[in-house]
Amino acid sequence: MEKMIDGELLNVPEHVAIIMDGNGRWATRQGKKRTAGHYRGAEVVETICEDAWNLGIKYLTVYAFSTENWKRPQAEVSTLMHLFYRYLVDYLDKFMKQNMRVRIIGDRSGLSAKINEAITNLEKKSAGNTGLNFTIAMNYGGRDEIVRAVNRLLADGVTSVDEAALQSYLDTAEIPDPNLVIRTSGEERVSNFLLWQTAYSEFYFTPVLWPDFTRSDLIDAVRAYSSRNRRYGGI
Ligand code: IPE
Ligand code: IPE
Ligand code: MG
Repeated sequence: MEKMIDGELLNVPEHVAIIMDGNGRWATRQGKKRTAGHYRGAEVVETICEDAWNLGIKYLTVYAFSTENWKRPQAEVSTLMHLFYRYLVDYLDKFMKQNMRVRIIGDRSGLSAKINEAITNLEKKSAGNTGLNFTIAMNYGGRDEIVRAVNRLLADGVTSVDEAALQSYLDTAEIPDPNLVIRTSGEERVSNFLLWQTAYSEFYFTPVLWPDFTRSDLIDAVRAYSSRNRRYGGI
């Protein structure tokens, strides 16, 4: 969608996905515990949701916890789980006020009963909202998602699939593929995020650490996207 943003005509992607990286380094640089970065990072998510919607982005997906993040020290994992729980419960009112439709993707069987309850409640309450489609990837891995989809296909007795059938069994069945993937903190890798869905996504990497990420960084990413020529295998 073409939109005038701060005096500039930009091609705004419908779906932006973000690998929010660098919370730990942000905190360490300030002499704080790594978990302080996660708390600050969660606040940034909230403001970026508002900014994204105001820029004309319809779908925002954020990578909050990967299937590999369980390898971290137990204390950090439990702080993150506590933070997710509080976030899902405390932000419900805000999500409703801002008319946001919230979805969680990832393997829920690895999350606590309390978190599962909060997810079910949030998804149910926000199901009729028509504003930003906000998706949080929690205990999410792209490979794990495909394997879970295949196992559900087998359980349903399916013996042969095409792309559309497999796609319809993914956690993201209801949402379009991301047009743009942003990764913060200077790392330039996918780390098991949306492997199937990013087949033709544009990637944008920035050294900015996630807790420092602002509207202006988001506009920089949209500007870079705007200037690219997507060919999808054609000429
Ligand atoms: C991203 O920040 C948040 C999660 C993976 C949960 P990190 O915690 O990976 O921060 P760095 O990469 O160690 O700085
Ligand atoms: C990717 O960040 C996962 C999330 C942002 C949730 P990581 O910090 O876990 O990725 P690696 O370990 O640098 O690949
Ligand atoms: Mg990291």
